Amino acid sequence: MIKVEAIVREDRLEDVKDALRAVDVRGITVSQVMGCGTQLGYTHRVRGGKAVMNMLPKAKFEIVVSDEEWAERTVNAIVKAAYTGEPGDGKVFWYPIDHAVRIRTGERDVEAITPAPNPVVEEE
Ligand SMILES: Nc1ncnc2c1ncn2[C@@H]1O[C@H](COP(=O)(O)OP(=O)(O)OP(=O)(O)O)[C@@H](O)[C@H]1O
Ligand SMILES: [Mg+2]
Repeated sequence: MIKVEAIVREDRLEDVKDALRAVDVRGITVSQVMGCGTQLGYTHRVRGGKAVMNMLPKAKFEIVVSDEEWAERTVNAIVKAAYTGEPGDGKVFWYPIDHAVRIRTGERDVEAITPAPNPVVEEE
């Protein structure tokens, strides 16, 4: 299994969500986070001195998928939907993870993240 973690512009949240829906990714965690990248939160560096860090609001997506193929599809969808070409577009990280459990059924690992054969109608 692979965990895809993406930090994107807040105003791209809906676009990224729609792009993930379009490639049929199921199971997403989204958080409002603060952060900065290589410009330390500024697009224009102050001259001289050491700039303080300016944390900017961002949206973070966390998605666990079953294999490399799904990871590639997920990463590509995020990059396409989050791109503006300006500094601050964000980053995507992905890395292997070992375990998962679906609490309702006790299913483990890949079984825990594939759609259940008898999906409940609604999450509660
Ligand atoms: N190395 C990192 N580790 C953790 N989070 C990061 C890292 N780099 C960027 N981020 C997160 O991504 C957000 C956006 O980063 P950003 O796109 O500005 O990266 P960048 O490397 O400065 O690229 P760019 O030059 O395009 O701005 C940051 O606010 C931070 O939350
Ligand atoms: Mg930056």
